[in-house]
Amino acid sequence: MTETVRTRVAIVGAGPAGLLLSHLLAAAGIESVVIDQRTRDEIESTIRAGILEHGTVDVLTSSGASDRVLTVGHRHDGIELRFEGQGHRIDFPSLTGRNVWLYPQHEVLKDLIAARLAGGQDLRFGVTALRVEGANTDRPRVFAEDAEGKAFEIDAEFVVGADGSRSVARAAVTGSSTGGYFREYPFAWFGILCEAPPSSEELIYSNSAEGFALISQRSATVQRMYFQCDPEADPEALSEEEIWEQLQIRVPGTTLQQGPIFQRDVLRFRSFVAHELRAGRVALVGDAAHTVPPTGAKGMNLAVADVLLLERALRALLLENDERLIDGYAETALQRIWKAQHFSWWMTSMLHVAPDASDFDRLRQVGELRSVVESEAGRTYLAEAYTGWPLASAGH
Ligand code: DHB
Repeated sequence: MTETVRTRVAIVGAGPAGLLLSHLLAAAGIESVVIDQRTRDEIESTIRAGILEHGTVDVLTSSGASDRVLTVGHRHDGIELRFEGQGHRIDFPSLTGRNVWLYPQHEVLKDLIAARLAGGQDLRFGVTALRVEGANTDRPRVFAEDAEGKAFEIDAEFVVGADGSRSVARAAVTGSSTGGYFREYPFAWFGILCEAPPSSEELIYSNSAEGFALISQRSATVQRMYFQCDPEADPEALSEEEIWEQLQIRVPGTTLQQGPIFQRDVLRFRSFVAHELRAGRVALVGDAAHTVPPTGAKGMNLAVADVLLLERALRALLLENDERLIDGYAETALQRIWKAQHFSWWMTSMLHVAPDASDFDRLRQVGELRSVVESEAGRTYLAEAYTGWPLASAGH
């Protein structure tokens, strides 16, 4: 006999989207079961981006999911755009009244997992979702396999696919695991973590003839940096000296503080939006619904925005039997998703050098950067998007 677990909401994926959703649902008195293929340790140690929008921080703190973001994280009041060797600061508070926080995604995940377990959440690691069925019934189901390979089912009133870019739940919504709008990019990021003091107090997004680099931070002693590379690059092929050389030539005007590199990876770029975000009683959030290229760090923030909308819609549906918000979920979420897609694409295309860029393209790009930094309207446009457009308010 296959075991069947009954719950109100089955959430596939214990990333930021799935965990935050379970947290907000629990606060509204709605029980859920969260499953993830990965172990807790894998989830808590995978290196991802580090910038949280103003509204993301508000949600994490006001919902009681994380206080550490304010104590361990660092508030950033601006970024620098650098081109032709000159830095141009974009000051967020004076332009938008908002700021962002540097607090790595895996720290958010540690906080969310701790908060959920303290709250008695049914949270199962090492569980593989095989498929989701019954979107157009009152009891959709997740068919899964636990860490020992034993099959079980989750029978719920609603199923949420928060299972990332290789989502299994997506097929139940779009009819195929790949159905969506795509864009590929002819470059990637070579990312490092190193032991060194910060090279700059704020993030530097640098455009240079040699390509893009991003100087980010993690702490007083650990730094995160990226430089544009070929998507096929082998992260192990460069020596530490060659990595520093590649980084340094892309950030003219700043002498980078070097130190031992203890982590390296190549991040591929992709823009994707699923053709559908909901079918009946199954909905997608976060990377299962969309992926953005990393420039501008919108990925996790966009997942949080989806979750706020879906949580509100599920409260109306499951507590008041009101279907209006769930019927409007996809349309409302897609407005922000496409704005974030545009912003991520725009930051990417404005700052990177395409392999086939002509002199015209290069000079036009500098003209574009200049038109942003020399205009208060231009700086404000960037700052509004970077710090995050207003969010649906959480219901607590
Ligand atoms: C980081 C990553 C980003 O994609 C970004 O735009 C800013 C910061 C980071 O990992 O620190």
